[in-house]
Amino acid sequence: MQGVAQPTRDDVLHLPRLHISSHPVMAHKMTALRDKNTRPPEFYRLVKEIGALLAYEATASLALDSHSIETPLAPAQGYRLAGGIGVTPILRAGLGLAEGFREVIPDVQIWHLGLRRDEYTLQAMEYYNQLPHRVDLQVCYAVDPMLATGGSAIDAITILKKRGIARLSYVGIIAAPYGLLRLAQTHPDIDIFLAGLDDSLNDVGYIVPGLGDAGDRQFGTF
Ligand code: PRP
Ligand code: URA
Repeated sequence: MQGVAQPTRDDVLHLPRLHISSHPVMAHKMTALRDKNTRPPEFYRLVKEIGALLAYEATASLALDSHSIETPLAPAQGYRLAGGIGVTPILRAGLGLAEGFREVIPDVQIWHLGLRRDEYTLQAMEYYNQLPHRVDLQVCYAVDPMLATGGSAIDAITILKKRGIARLSYVGIIAAPYGLLRLAQTHPDIDIFLAGLDDSLNDVGYIVPGLGDAGDRQFGTF
């Protein structure tokens, strides 16, 4: 990112479809996640827990269908989520977040998508795609802990749009203003849910202060 002008946090905080968690439990877990002394088993558990909290926030406006039931005492009017819910983990760091979503909504469909960022060019390359052709979702969430240059997120949403899904959201743990602005400008029609917004990208495209490499820290591949 040498020589590239980067927007500041103040430049992006106004984005209309941006939702940044302000929950105190999230702030507590994020501190443990960022800590360099947090080891992979604990790191993965925290990513899952943060994924569950983000799932709770990101699904707050989902549509419902009415559903009649009987309690042990009387008939009652209830609700069910209308249509399927899809979660696309961007491999591999998105896997922990997707597990968090499953804890909140066990019957989500998981659509795996493998994108790897080339460490020199910082361009995302697709290497795995298990997206079904039949689409019966009310919404699909692309999940990935880190939104750095935005290349992976932009490509993932572009690929999902080609599947004709009516409503798409991006869910991440930490974003840099640079990637966040690129994502919002390229795909202004999606909601973006984050646990935190950091200051900048360093010379090799890592988020600062960030948490390091989210994939390596989940899976112990240092
Ligand atoms: C990381 C991260 C995102 C991407 C973000 O993945 O999980 O997918 O980089 O960077 P960007 O916004 O600049 O595209 P990485 O390519 O390192 O693969 P991994 O998940 O297998 O570790
Ligand atoms: N990918 C990561 O895992 N961390 C960063 O800071 C940027 C990209």
